[in-house]
Amino acid sequence: MQARTLPTEFRGCAGMYVCICNRLTDQQVRAAALSGASRPAEVYPACGCAAQCGTCAITMRHLIDEQASRIAAAE
Ligand code: FES
Repeated sequence: MQARTLPTEFRGCAGMYVCICNRLTDQQVRAAALSGASRPAEVYPACGCAAQCGTCAITMRHLIDEQASRIAAAE
C-alpha cells in the first residue's frame, strides 16, 4: 500500500485525545488509517501500543471510516 500524508487541515495541529489509556490523538488514528489500518485493532499496533479498556474503539471506527471516505473521494 502506498504511504499517504495527513490532509493539510490536520498538519501542525495538536489534535484531540481519542484514546486516553494510550494517549492517542485523532491525528495519530487518522495517520494509522492512512497507513492502512482498517479497524481499531490495527490502529493500536500501528501506534506502538495495545488496546486497554476499548472505550475508544467506536470513535476510532468513525475516524477510520471518515478517513476511508476522504481517500475514496480523492481518488
Ligand atoms: S481509551 Fe483507548 S483503550 Fe482505553
